[in-house]
Amino acid sequence: MITDYSKYPTTDAAPIAVNMLESFRAVGYSIEAAVADILDNSISAGAKNVWIDFDWQGANTTFSLKDDGCGMTNNELINAMRPGSRDPNEERDVNDLGRFGLGLKTASFSQCRKYTVISKKQSEEPVFWTWDLDYVYHYAKEWKLIASLPSGNWNEQIQNLSSGTIVIWYDMDHLLKGITANNQKAYDKFLQTMERVKKHIATVFHRYIEGNKIKIFFSGREVEAWNPFLTKHTATQSFSEEPLNNGKIKVRGFVLPHKSKLSPEEFRNAEGVKGWNAQQGFYVYRNERMLVGGEWLGLFRKEEHFKLARIMIDLPNSLDGEWQIDIKKSVARAPFGLKDNLKAYASMVRAQAIEVYRHRGKVIQRNNTTQHFQPVWLEKQKDGKRYYEINQEHPFIALMDLQTVKPLLRLLEETLPVPLIVINESENPDSFFRPFEKVAASNELKELLKAVYTSLLNTNTPEQAKSRLLLIEPFNEYPELIEHV
Ligand SMILES: Nc1ncnc2c1ncn2[C@@H]1O[C@H](COP(=O)(O)OP(=O)(O)OP(=O)(O)O)[C@@H](O)[C@H]1O
Ligand SMILES: [Mg+2]
Repeated sequence: MITDYSKYPTTDAAPIAVNMLESFRAVGYSIEAAVADILDNSISAGAKNVWIDFDWQGANTTFSLKDDGCGMTNNELINAMRPGSRDPNEERDVNDLGRFGLGLKTASFSQCRKYTVISKKQSEEPVFWTWDLDYVYHYAKEWKLIASLPSGNWNEQIQNLSSGTIVIWYDMDHLLKGITANNQKAYDKFLQTMERVKKHIATVFHRYIEGNKIKIFFSGREVEAWNPFLTKHTATQSFSEEPLNNGKIKVRGFVLPHKSKLSPEEFRNAEGVKGWNAQQGFYVYRNERMLVGGEWLGLFRKEEHFKLARIMIDLPNSLDGEWQIDIKKSVARAPFGLKDNLKAYASMVRAQAIEVYRHRGKVIQRNNTTQHFQPVWLEKQKDGKRYYEINQEHPFIALMDLQTVKPLLRLLEETLPVPLIVINESENPDSFFRPFEKVAASNELKELLKAVYTSLLNTNTPEQAKSRLLLIEPFNEYPELIEHV
């Protein structure tokens, strides 16, 4: 039924400019997400290069993002500065990263009270407009831009491009209010923030960077991509891709290598900005741009033993509504009808992740059914409570005179400081040595290995003994020692 609106009286209820603009400031962007939102526009504008720079001046610091994309005409720029410049229901080009016609405004205002956009179309003169909250608040009281440019060589910079756009943020009160330029502590903190922004960019746009679609320079230095999946590492296990939702969505899981398979540098790099535990989960991409990096989307909780599981989900921008993509492009929610499918796929990846995590990266000979892995500790349960026991079948323990050492083993089992270990691990994950790591070069481990090897030789050929050693903790972590035993 079509409503006959002509029968109703109406009244004007346009937003009050200054209140509305001030409210934009509270959309809840982090500076990382805000910068990524501005970069989205550069990518949608076909930029091949983006230069992100800042000029530290305390409270007068400027932060700028320059691209060599298609640029805008005067009318296009005025429209771009208009909140709600596009219809969110409009079908967008498959490579367009925008949706709401808001990002430029909300992201910028979240960080500063004033920002200018200067833009140039090919073979045209540059144009610029500024949103200045103080002007709107104290003078205009209306939605009015001013044609001002902050100090700096912005005109020259834009003239050096055949086409492009520079977004300049200044009066960044959220970060720098009242800070003087010579405040060293504030400067150091600002630099740390900039480092976080850089890492976020390296993560969110890693596919664009890896695919040479764009080069991003941060303070003149090219940003290297951060790929969460360690796809090039030989010990990474990848699952086959699964199409969902009639092939519109693709899901692909990875189980990252156990710590023992990574060099210290690889290990540190792979932990990303959030740390190993927090980086587990789904990575949702929309048109190659990462929206969510390491979340279980409400389907599971993050737990230490699943930390090696990372799963990519690829969405087209035509599903923005169903996935409830937000203005900041940092939230996505799995539609109800897909949750079971996602859960099933993720459960498979998580099951493998827990194997790799628990077996500590050992080489398992799965076709060898007569042998099984011999850990030092066994997890047991009684009356719904858990406890840990030393495995008396472990070939080294079996060498002991059990009658004599049993009381010692019992003492260790009964006093294992489980609560302390749990607290330490959750507060400071991966801060423990792996078995014999701190003494790997010493003879202790070699002597232990030799003793077990010698005893295995009683009933095995040297070849068999060596392959059994690969299934015995902690020797499984040192295949190179087994080789030369
Ligand atoms: N760097 C740029 N180069 C060329 N055009 C731009 C640039 N930045 C913004 N625009 C234009 O301004 C418009 C508004 O940008 P804005 O970020 O506010 O919204 P959006 O990108 O359309 O959607 P979203 O709110 O999802 O980001 C864009 O649609 C684009 O046409
Ligand atoms: Mg945008």
